[in-house]
Amino acid sequence: MTVLDLSGVDVRFGGNQVLSGVDMQAAAGFTGLIGPNGAGKTTVFNAVTGYVRPTAGQIRIGGQPVPPGGPVPVARLGVRRTFQTPRLVGELDVLSNVLTGLDSELTRGHGLLEFLGISRRARAARSRAVELLGAFGLADAAGEPVANLPLGSQKIVEVARALASRPSLVLLDEPAAGLSAADVDRLVEPLAEIGRADGLAVVVIEHDLEVVSRLCPRVAVLHFGRILTEGPPAQVVAHPDVVTAYLGASVAAVHP
Ligand SMILES: Nc1ncnc2c1ncn2[C@@H]1O[C@H](COP(=O)(O)OP(=O)(O)O)[C@@H](O)[C@H]1O
Ligand SMILES: [Mg+2]
Repeated sequence: MTVLDLSGVDVRFGGNQVLSGVDMQAAAGFTGLIGPNGAGKTTVFNAVTGYVRPTAGQIRIGGQPVPPGGPVPVARLGVRRTFQTPRLVGELDVLSNVLTGLDSELTRGHGLLEFLGISRRARAARSRAVELLGAFGLADAAGEPVANLPLGSQKIVEVARALASRPSLVLLDEPAAGLSAADVDRLVEPLAEIGRADGLAVVVIEHDLEVVSRLCPRVAVLHFGRILTEGPPAQVVAHPDVVTAYLGASVAAVHP
């Protein structure tokens, strides 16, 4: 079943047409979204999560149109995301940061500390968060202020936060960027396992094609705001238009 469905989505900022007629679907499992820098990948996530409003087209999440009112109503549909640069609460400890990813119903009206101690639901949430940290090899860091962790670990904490509520749709924006090879392994294996176990629909923007291939049976390629092609990773990266798009990007980067 399709969890995320974009149909003919345009996004324009002033005179800058950033997305043009984007069609893309994601079902339970992992879907990759790749493309050169500036292609519009993050803008796709911003449109899905209500940070930007498409100028044309339709976005449906679990069959429902994206509600108006920005990111909060979208999050209530069970959508969670990460950012290219982690947006965590630096002075809060790692466990509390993961808990901030939970259902707003659970946290509403309570201070975070109060909520940590009290209800059965809160205890279940806490054990879920602890379990996630364990899965990602971060159990020992649970009580550390998150700002004390290296960037790679912070990015993994943000992924754990996105998974904490067992969301219906998870959008990960370059989760492996800036990670060491060891951190990539620490991220990818548990992520694949949790995604499978919880039946999550996960869309992953990622430049590391090995990570994409490990996680995603299908991948879409975005170039200048249009979907160039879509299919299994090995097939997609061999597509002549994709080769040209990436070559064009690297030549442009060398000779601006
Ligand atoms: N809020 C915004 N206002 C104006 N331009 C934007 C905004 N967000 C993105 N853009 C422009 O859209 C284009 C695509 O950006 P982005 O979606 O971040 O690309 P990618 O994630 O593929 O690198 C860029 O030219 C960027 O400058
Ligand atoms: Mg981006």
